[in-house]
Amino acid sequence: MSQKIDWAKFAEEQEKSVQKKLGDVSLSSNRNNSTAEASLLRKLMRNGLVESKTDIEIQRQNPNSPLYSVKTFEALNLNPNLLKGVYDMGFNAPSKIQETALPTLLANPPQNLIAQAQSGTGKTAAFVLAMLSRVDASLKYPQVLCLSPTYELAIQTGEVAAHMAKFCPEIEMKYAVRGEEVSRGSHLTEHIIIGTPGKVLDWALKFRVFDLKKLTVFVLDEADVMIATQGHQDQCIRIHKNLGPNCQMMFFSATYDQQIMEFAEMIVPDSITIRLKREEESLDNIQQYYVKCSGPQEKYNAVTNIYGTVGVGQAIIFCHTRRTASWLAEKMSKDGHAVAVLTGDLTVEQRINVLDRFRSGQEKVLITTNVLSRGIDVEQVTIVVNFDLPIDMQGKADCDTYLHRIGRTGRFGKQGIAINLVDSQEAMNICRDIEKHFNRKIHYLNADDSDEIEKIGA
Ligand SMILES: Nc1ncnc2c1ncn2[C@@H]1O[C@H](COP(=O)(O)OP(=O)(O)OP(=O)(O)O)[C@@H](O)[C@H]1O
Ligand SMILES: [Mg+2]
Repeated sequence: MSQKIDWAKFAEEQEKSVQKKLGDVSLSSNRNNSTAEASLLRKLMRNGLVESKTDIEIQRQNPNSPLYSVKTFEALNLNPNLLKGVYDMGFNAPSKIQETALPTLLANPPQNLIAQAQSGTGKTAAFVLAMLSRVDASLKYPQVLCLSPTYELAIQTGEVAAHMAKFCPEIEMKYAVRGEEVSRGSHLTEHIIIGTPGKVLDWALKFRVFDLKKLTVFVLDEADVMIATQGHQDQCIRIHKNLGPNCQMMFFSATYDQQIMEFAEMIVPDSITIRLKREEESLDNIQQYYVKCSGPQEKYNAVTNIYGTVGVGQAIIFCHTRRTASWLAEKMSKDGHAVAVLTGDLTVEQRINVLDRFRSGQEKVLITTNVLSRGIDVEQVTIVVNFDLPIDMQGKADCDTYLHRIGRTGRFGKQGIAINLVDSQEAMNICRDIEKHFNRKIHYLNADDSDEIEKIGA
């Protein structure tokens, strides 16, 4: 049953191993806010996030920008109704990944593609346009399958697809996620299935409500984690093995380590690989800082200071474990702060409800775990806080997760700020390792140094 297959298994296993290493959080309840830190943060928010629409237009003229394009959407030969959908979303010109990937994705005969492009540069629209373009609406069975690692991401992608297809009412979609049920022996008539691996596997191979062999397009979003041994590998590979020989494969992610890329190239026959930028360049529009804290209480103080300075933007706070996330959320709520918390403990309805409220700005701060580290797109997120730095099962810096986490801000050319809370020598070492890995400075945020405050955002 899909219920047994946990879509966030990877994140959960990480959580468990981390929980063992760290033990439980415990803290006294007395608060001691640092006003210097608060004013520093305010300064940072004011100066660090100067951003306007013209800013994006300027970036679009720069050939080194991921938003740069030489083509128009018209030049991509999209179906006119899809083109209307694209303009309805407010997109004027394709981003670099869109203009580079789409000609390959739409070419005939179909061509397999492995694509890497920075967080927030429009990979979703690239593969969604390809998915919608390939549908033959006169055929009443699933032809396109898109897999996402989490429930929230599947829903988000489905919403993008529904908007793009606003003027193509003949195209039908179905979610294959927790909470959706089908009866054995029925046959799906929708053209597109968007789902998580466990549910899709059940539907395709156990209930046989659709035929993987008949698919013409197979999309793996966040492909690296989908084929990683500690990700969704088993399920994805089983699905992948049952595809027909002519099914077009599209793999997308912001990160592929070398080993995973080699594996991807092995399982995707005759693929074209597009790598737009070295991964560290994703970080150019996100200013990174670290704050030294003596322990959980000071981390808590830093978070409340950040809460007080978010301003018009919003913040996502990442914790290692759902336990820390719940603890932090409860403590903040008790102190009168309105925060949202999203962890694997919630039901799917609660999860989508929490995310919807956050998207609409009803809560300015969302506390979560790695479950939301990938793909989630909330434009107004200006700050990402790593309450705990991301580590892998060996306790080493998890640089890919770091990049995905902080990529929740700085979407589509916007500016963003990432703040890392460091409360031990171990955490400091991890911070340094991340800095070295990406070759981008993580600045020390020294709340006691007024000169430092002046320099911020300069
Ligand atoms: N051509 C475009 N013009 C304007 N905005 C765009 C365009 N393409 C995408 N966007 C917007 O950019 C944002 C980021 O896009 P998307 O979520 O697809 O990023 P991504 O590359 O998948 O990032 P991640 O690696 O974090 O998943 C979205 O809000 C989307 O609406
Ligand atoms: Mg994405």
